[in-house]
Amino acid sequence: MRIIKTKDYNDLSLKAAEIISGQVMLKNNSVLGLATGSTPIGTYKELIKKYEKGLIDFSEIITVNLDEYRGLAPDNDQSYRYFMNKNLFDHINIDKSNTYVPNGLEANAEKACMEYDALIAGVGGIDLQLLGLGVNGHIGFNEPADSFPLNTNCVKLTQSTIDANKRFFEKEEDVPKEAYTVGIGAIMQANTVLLLASGKSKAPIVKEAFFGEIKPQVPASILQMHKNFILIADEDALSQSPLA
Ligand code: GLP
Repeated sequence: MRIIKTKDYNDLSLKAAEIISGQVMLKNNSVLGLATGSTPIGTYKELIKKYEKGLIDFSEIITVNLDEYRGLAPDNDQSYRYFMNKNLFDHINIDKSNTYVPNGLEANAEKACMEYDALIAGVGGIDLQLLGLGVNGHIGFNEPADSFPLNTNCVKLTQSTIDANKRFFEKEEDVPKEAYTVGIGAIMQANTVLLLASGKSKAPIVKEAFFGEIKPQVPASILQMHKNFILIADEDALSQSPLA
């Protein structure tokens, strides 16, 4: 595990964008595993700036998003497909047919999950996986559990995740209660994993996940075992850790 401590969120976003563009430069047809949530937005903005300056070419890049709310259509403004188009894909030269998000409209959960795992295997696995961190330690939507789910799975979101995500919806009732998420297996098989954590609200879970015991009740803790795991965290997110 390598830890990059940044002064603040802007610095974190710049450094994450540097690492992603390095990956794209080294392998122009990389498979990037991408994440939603508020944390990666700054990174995506920096990647767009690099593209606009002619410093990065996404034309051969394939992306595989981590998760999608079950039941939301791609054009629903709360869907993760919509988020990715708005925050990244609409602004760069990526071929949208090479960008994948789990199919939230597939009602058959088993089918949706099997198809997504087959898709990830079909593109040869993930070169670089970008992750955010839930306040309860979830990655993607792999919530605290008694074991680490390996494959893409359909999860019931915990109340803490529903609470954390309701700010994006008009009413709490509108927050979907289930999601499809890539499992821990595909994340652990990625060549590089880059997790971003910013702000004081993440300080307790950063300490627990990356300086504590590895256990499925804190899904992100498994990343301590990854061969090439990079944590980029700002001073606030590290404020309760031994690196404070
Ligand atoms: C959601 C996403 C996660 C994300 C998490 C943290 O639950 N499914 O992939 O990491 O939120 O979000 P934020 O970055 O807004 O704190």
